Formats: sequence, structure tokens, C-alpha cells
Amino acid sequence: CGIVGYIGMRDAKEVLLEGLARLEYRGYDSAGVAFLDNENNLYVEKQVGKISVLRNAVFRRFHNKCFSLGIGHTRWATHGGVTQENAHPHVSASGRIALVHNGIIENYMALKQYLVKEGYHFVSETDTEVLVHLIEDFYKREGNRNLQSAVMEALKLVEGTYGIAVISVDEPYKIVAARNGSPLVIGIGEKEMFVASDVNALLAYTRHVIYLEDKELVVLKSERYKAYDLDYQRIDKEVVKVEWDINAIELGKHETYMEKEIFEQPEAIRNALRGRVVIEEGMVKFGGLNMTEEEIRRISRIVITACGTSWHAALIGKYLIERFGEIPVEVDYASEFRYRNPILKEGDLVIVISQSGETADTLEALREAKRKGVRVLGLTNVVGSTIARESDGGIYLHAGPEIGVASTKAFTNQVVSLILFAIYLGRLKNMSLYEGQRLLKELSLVPEKIQQILEQQDTIKKIAEKYHEAKNFLYLGRGVNYPVALEGALKLKEISYIHAEGYPAAEMKHGPIALIDEFMPVVFIAPRDALYEKVVSNIHEVKARHGKVIAILSDKDDHVLRYVDDALYIPQTMEEFSPLLTVVPLQMMAYHIARIKGLDVDKPRNLAKSVTVE
Ligand code: G6P
Repeated sequence: CGIVGYIGMRDAKEVLLEGLARLEYRGYDSAGVAFLDNENNLYVEKQVGKISVLRNAVFRRFHNKCFSLGIGHTRWATHGGVTQENAHPHVSASGRIALVHNGIIENYMALKQYLVKEGYHFVSETDTEVLVHLIEDFYKREGNRNLQSAVMEALKLVEGTYGIAVISVDEPYKIVAARNGSPLVIGIGEKEMFVASDVNALLAYTRHVIYLEDKELVVLKSERYKAYDLDYQRIDKEVVKVEWDINAIELGKHETYMEKEIFEQPEAIRNALRGRVVIEEGMVKFGGLNMTEEEIRRISRIVITACGTSWHAALIGKYLIERFGEIPVEVDYASEFRYRNPILKEGDLVIVISQSGETADTLEALREAKRKGVRVLGLTNVVGSTIARESDGGIYLHAGPEIGVASTKAFTNQVVSLILFAIYLGRLKNMSLYEGQRLLKELSLVPEKIQQILEQQDTIKKIAEKYHEAKNFLYLGRGVNYPVALEGALKLKEISYIHAEGYPAAEMKHGPIALIDEFMPVVFIAPRDALYEKVVSNIHEVKARHGKVIAILSDKDDHVLRYVDDALYIPQTMEEFSPLLTVVPLQMMAYHIARIKGLDVDKPRNLAKSVTVE
């Protein structure tokens, strides 16, 4: 998740640990460093957990050593659990080359097979280790005693994304770094050079940087750098002076993590789809379900359990799995499930959903299900988290670290994962090839459609201005957008401290309608779907009582425009996928209301990102 490298006169220990600490905000689960000393010995230290743990270990072990060259890394696991072996730097079989890597090597299985045949022994479960052995493989070939060309040749065989920094005991005065799809920036100092995945890690030392582009490689020595393309052609790079202050850079162009994470949703969804969707086959591929197709076909009932926002995703999952997968689904709060003596039978599958993979109630619900002998599938974002480890199989959300307490991109990726799972179930049962293709094609368009919603930021801000003083809000939706109403209300509650309730639109008549007056904003989620006309009659009922209506409408829907006070638009999509779009303006509205009120959206009062107590 984060890379730092240094070559120069300072003590590399200090530069690397300081740089890694500056990358901490991104979230990580383990970290490591590799140094070369003056006698060309390679030293590696890795630790699971906080940078402070690594710092203590490094300073204890090397207190009397000074290094002029090193590379460091913070890892946020994607392949393989959170262990010391899986942490970077990874070292080649001979112990002579060390490498740190961000990104995913997609063809690592094929490369690994080749390397195993060549006699390479793997000590970690990461895709990265393939890369360091591959570089060594080229390095050892006759006539090729050059780290730069070995890296270049290895990268030509790699499919996927990488930002890497590589060092070798045989060429102790250089760092080779390269990028493809994963950011890398070079810092230029006085007789010293830096490399990092994020300029923020360098700013304490230099403001002169060059940004590498995809498929570019640079060779750093303390007094100079040279940039190349992968065909050995030299490239002239422009040196840029960075003017931003450190805080602004940590968040990129965003003011808060929540805003950043809302805006990351298109990319997060692409990451969840990557490698899983085979449109031609109308099929979904999962790596970690740990169930045969026969076992999947025998599932007769699914129980989904979760807390908070993840529970809302579970409710959407019920609609999707029943619709596409044709399996009855029950949804339960994890805290209720675990104490209720849930009746579980053979043929049941329990799905637990948790961004953090650590929520105490969800974890206990999982354990309860396992005690009852039922198979458990875990949907988690944090690789190697307790829930991920204890589940029989799982689907990783691939949303990237979520730092804001109020969940946004993890929620949309939970819904995406459930959509994929539902389609997968459907295809193993009655769903036709054509239907599978049609659904997956439409799903792959969703990131672009979310992008269009994000561009309505100014309109959403105006609506937030207008309503931020309201004391209560009501959120209404039907069908698959009923859970979105719950999630919209929760987002507002969590960060703006305004009381809000979500309801199925038709239930309004059974209670909440009594609250409606001119001071009560009512948010209607009303995309054009099978229940659209019914929602429109609910809008009329609110207007007849002088309520203020904010409507989330499908593109170009002027049918209801004259009845509503404010409208936000989402592009057309299939009804089943609409929660992925309708939730976005609700996240943004809650966000702006809280910001106008001057509240700390990333760390709202009383709430925790991960609730590890009951
Ligand atoms: C806390 C967080 C929520 C989250 C819930 C479940 O309450 O503040 O944002 O939805 O826990 O967390 P999980 O990590 O299990 O999804």
C-alpha cells in the first residue's frame, strides 16, 4: 500500500521510518524495511502491526549501524494473510535482491508455475514474491549482470499493476524503481534521492519531484537519476516543484477521508469486478468460496448476518439472491442472531458481511453458525481479518482501506459482491447465458454512472444548504431501494447528528405520516422501476401534508418534477443495480450537511470504525 526508498548521506533508517509513518493514514496491516550496509550486506526487518512496532524493532536491532540505502513498505493485504512472511520487502532465493511492490500481479499463477519448475522456493503467499524471483532469474542469466535490465525483462512478462523499488547487494549504489498503474514519485535532493508511492512521504526532505508514468523505470544513484521506458530508451522527465502543504497531500484533492472515499467508489467497484467477471461466458469467477459447484447447487436457504451499514447491504443481498439465485434468504442483525438460538439446518449457508472483519457481534454470529455445523461465507474488506480467517470461504470486497468511520465505498462494494454472488448462483441454476451476459455488461457500466453522480456535487451542496437546519428527516424507498433509505438515514445520523428514519415507502401511512409538516424533509428514492408509480403516489401523500420532498430520480424524469421541492438525478440502470447509484447522492447530502454544520465527518462522536466489543 505504501513504498518509500532512500539513497544518500542520511541514515536510511530514519528516512524510511519517517516516510512510512507519513503513509500510515492510508491504512495497513504490516510493514517492513530492507537496508544495505557499507560491506554490502542486506538486512531485512518486517513486522505485523503498527509502524511503531517496526521502528522499535529496527532501532533495537541496528542501533549501532548506519545505512545509506534502503527500501520500505506498508502492506494492506490483498493476496495472502497478514503475516511477517507476507510483509514486504521480499527477498530473492539467493538473498541478494530485495523488492517492495504495490499493486497486483494478475498472471502470478502462471509465472509461479514456471519459477517453481525452475527450482525457486516460495516462502510467502503473495503475488509479489513471484516478481523478485523472476528478476533474479533474469539476473542470473549469462551475460546479464545488471539489475536494471533484469527488472526490465521481468516486467515485460508481468500482467497487472505495479509500483516497485528494487535493490541488490551486487549493485549496492542504486535503487531501480518502476511503475504501471500504481503511483510512484521520485524525490530529488542534494546528493540524495528518494522514491515513494505518495509524495507525502518525501515532503519533509525535498519538494523537487518527478512523477513516473506507466511503464517507466528509473535508476536512482545518490547524485543522479536516469529514466527509461521498458525498451531501454532514455526519457527526459520534468522536475516539478510541489507547493502543497502536507495535510492537503495526504488526502489528495479531498478535504476529508469520507469525501475521498465517496469519490473513490467508481475505482473501488472496478477493483471488485476485476478478474471476476467473464462477460462472454455470462459468468462470475470467485477465488475463495471453497465450495464445489455441486455444494453450491445444494444450498436451500441463506441467512445473512451483519451490523450497521453492512446489515443494509445484507438486506439488498436478500433481494438480489432471491431474484437471481432463486434461494430464500433471511437477514438478521448479528447481535440478534447470536443470542436467538437461530434454527439452522443442513443445506443452509450463512453469509457474514463486515468491512473490518473484526466486528465482535458479527464474529460471534459466525462462530455460532459454525458451532451448528453450517458453512459460513465471509464478505470482508480487510484481508486476513478474524472473520476472513474463520470463515469457510469468502469474497474480499477490494474497496481499499476505508478510514472514514461512516462506511461508503465498502458499502457499495458489499452490494457489488452480493450482486456478483447472486448472478453466480443464478448461472449455476436457471439463469441463461444471455441473461448473465446482459447483467454483467450493465454492471460494468456502473462505475461510469457513479462518476456522473459525483459531478453533481454543487447541486447537492445547495440542497444541503437548504435543509441543514432540519431536526428530523425521513427517507423512503421501496423494493431494493428500501435498504438504501435505511442507509441514507444512517449516514445522516452518523455524521450530522440529525435524527433520521428510513422506511419502506408504503409503511409511511402506518405511522411516520403523523410527523409530516412543513419542517420535515422527506427524501424519496424514486428511480424508474417496477414500483415507481407507487412511490409517486407516496410523494403526493407527503405534498398533500406540506412536507418538503427531496427526490432521487432517474435521468430526464420530469413526470414528478413539478411535485417535488428538490431533485437529484441518477443515470438509468437495471432496477437490481440501482442501489449502487441511489446511495451515492445520499452519502453526499449527509456529508455536506455535516460539513456545513462544522462537524468532524471522519471521526463522528461516539462512533468507532470497528466495534470489537459487544
Ligand atoms: C461500526 C461502523 C459502521 C459499520 C459497522 C459494522 O458501527 O461505524 O460504519 O457499518 O460498525 O462494521 P463492519 O466492519 O462489521 O462492516
